[in-house]
Amino acid sequence: MLNTVKINIVFIILLILCLIHKQNAFDMSSSDDGDGAVTLSPFYSSQIEIRCSAGVSNRVIGGKSAQRHTFPWLAAIIYGDDYLPSCGGSLLNHQYIVTAAHCVDFLKGPNEIKVVLGAHEFKNDPGYVEPNTTTYPVESIHMHSDWSKRTMKNDIAILKLKTRIPKFTKHVVPICIPWTDDKFVGEMATIAGWGDTKVGGNRSEILQEVSVKIWDNKDCGNVYKTRPGITSSMLCAGEAQGGRDACQNDSGGPLMINIGKTKWTLIGIVSWGYECGRPGMPGVYTRVSDYTDWIKENIK
Ligand code: ARG
Repeated sequence: MLNTVKINIVFIILLILCLIHKQNAFDMSSSDDGDGAVTLSPFYSSQIEIRCSAGVSNRVIGGKSAQRHTFPWLAAIIYGDDYLPSCGGSLLNHQYIVTAAHCVDFLKGPNEIKVVLGAHEFKNDPGYVEPNTTTYPVESIHMHSDWSKRTMKNDIAILKLKTRIPKFTKHVVPICIPWTDDKFVGEMATIAGWGDTKVGGNRSEILQEVSVKIWDNKDCGNVYKTRPGITSSMLCAGEAQGGRDACQNDSGGPLMINIGKTKWTLIGIVSWGYECGRPGMPGVYTRVSDYTDWIKENIK
């Protein structure tokens, strides 16, 4: 009799502990500043289950400073001994980042770059390390085998981190890859990066974000008639009146769309453009939905 009471008490205590733990996990993914693990939504991308894009959401031209941790998949790619990032990237799972091939094609090896995750602000100052960020060395770089600098075709590369990310937190969460080949023409998408805030200007220390409208490729081809030209594996986005765009050092970073409020999906990778934010001249992105099989193959 006494034993059953004991067992019951132990059970109730365990239940309470469990509930407290769940409550914390939930809080982490909403607003507090802790560093606990987040629960990711399972997401089915043609048969394989990918866990990405937790419900965290409630130098870019013409943008505004992003809220901290709105884009926890955003990776900063830093060359050599620099303090400021030169390219962006997106976290896809526990060990892989996707970026632009042109960000890494001139490197002698993966040890010439590092990846910072969980970042919001960089300073051109050796003494500054932002709390909650982790710097990862890179084990290998896998560029698309048909990447061409001349035509800008297949501007995509995968970075494998030297170590696995032990757990996802509200600061570090992967983004979903597209499961449809929807072109999203006319819809608004978001870009984020630490790139230049004007042509020939400085990089931004604080992460910037801006939304841009997705163009029809036909219209974009009419703008960029000459080399390198627009192919179906490119995606254009920008504003007719200009002023909102990605720019130098935003390359490799995400063009993303928020489907169903919490499913941030990577639809483009910042690739090229004529200057930045020119009226009628959209930014050009690698169309991620054309590469989902290639990506899945290279992140396992
Ligand atoms: N190639 C540039 C870079 O390396 C990105 C250019 C994007 N330009 C634009 N106007 N959207 O950072």
